[in-house]
Amino acid sequence: MADGTDTKSSNQMWGGRFASGPAAIMEEINASIGFDKKLFAQDIRGSIAHATMLAHQGIISTEDKDKIVHGLNTILSEIEAGNFEFSRSLEDIHMNVESRLAALIGPAAGRLHTARSRNDQVALDFRLWVKEELQKCEQALTGLIAAFLDRAEEHADTVMPGFTHLQTAQPVTFGHHCMAYVEMFGRDRSRVRHAIEHMDESPIGAAALAGTGFPIDRHMTAKALGFREPTRNSIDTVSDRDFAIEFLSIAAIAGMHLSRLAEEIVIWSTPQFGFVRLSDAFSTGSSIMPQKKNPDAAELVRAKTGRINGSLVALLTIMKGLPLAYSKDMQEDKEQVFDAAESLELAIAAMTGMVRDLTINAARMKAAAGSGYSTATDLADWLVREAGLPFRDAHHVTGRAVALAESKSCDLAELSLEDLQAIHPAITDKIFDVLTVEASVASRKSFGGTAPSEVRKQIAFWRARN
Ligand code: ARG
Repeated sequence: MADGTDTKSSNQMWGGRFASGPAAIMEEINASIGFDKKLFAQDIRGSIAHATMLAHQGIISTEDKDKIVHGLNTILSEIEAGNFEFSRSLEDIHMNVESRLAALIGPAAGRLHTARSRNDQVALDFRLWVKEELQKCEQALTGLIAAFLDRAEEHADTVMPGFTHLQTAQPVTFGHHCMAYVEMFGRDRSRVRHAIEHMDESPIGAAALAGTGFPIDRHMTAKALGFREPTRNSIDTVSDRDFAIEFLSIAAIAGMHLSRLAEEIVIWSTPQFGFVRLSDAFSTGSSIMPQKKNPDAAELVRAKTGRINGSLVALLTIMKGLPLAYSKDMQEDKEQVFDAAESLELAIAAMTGMVRDLTINAARMKAAAGSGYSTATDLADWLVREAGLPFRDAHHVTGRAVALAESKSCDLAELSLEDLQAIHPAITDKIFDVLTVEASVASRKSFGGTAPSEVRKQIAFWRARN
């Protein structure tokens, strides 16, 4: 009961000094089994490695170890088969597993927790989980990058308007635009790889916070669990959640990239832009307006990013006031990470699908690329190159040409040679060669520029890099 008069018996795992059980509300606020049961496989793997090490070091008998390992494997199959009853009064995954182990193998189960604490145990389980999640992210990002590389190759010559301030700036190619996202998701992937490096240390054996007097071998458990090495400071080990925060930061940055892409898809798929079309597979209709086709998947990717940001801020805030070492506040780390991981996985998968699904309207893109005086810089550059004007003067002359075209409601290329010569006498009819959008993009061959030849080089670079 909420008033603390609950007289349930005390906890079988740690209740030795307790006369009575927890208030119902205490059990409710304390229990993490509702979400940390997700860590069952990691918990069992960690326990098997720990028990094996204990036996190897002569801390427990081989016979007990064999019973423990057998029992743990049985529990693993029970949970996987959905035949395991999780109990809230056992608080968390660690005690649910250990209690079931006792039921299965008897007193030998009580030896498993020698030379460890739930503090290093949870740090281990969660690290293993986050590490696997990072590996999944690496794969998923590689898939997204591959999708973009294919679209970039297909559209290396497709001209579209490039924007700054969402105002038409200069013509670019759609392939070049796709490759911008390859750079962004490539950075995300290298952040993921670095994070795996950073966190690749085993916490088990730090015990409660001070290490242990038992002659354990932490290098052995680290190796068995696929970590590079054990962590080096037992206090830090149980109080550190940097690996979770790093995951969330990376997720937030990748989410920000995904959300910008989502926003572009939303804009590009409007009838006003009409640059791309999403197939029925990635759109929904409206229940009232029969003509509508909505880019819901893109919108949801944009929204998932908000959730991920929330999780990052939540965990940073949970951790910022904690004295060393472990505090129960840290139990609140998992839901944030689980939720963000699910959001990120979904967002990357949905985006990969959309990128492959998009139909590109090259004619619309090209028409838009030529509007808004997008080749004005090409005119100015021509005056510098062919007529020897300083760029600032060329900029001014071009500005007058734009103003004239605007007053005549026509494009730069539609101005007559006489009109242009009236603005500057050095202009010849050669100018018309650079005023087309194709000529404009083809000329931008600087390293990393939008010229199709350059974009193809960058595609080749990324294909080789993987
Ligand atoms: N359920 C706990 C968590 O997720 C496990 C560690 C509990 N440790 C303790 N000393 N109460 O953080």
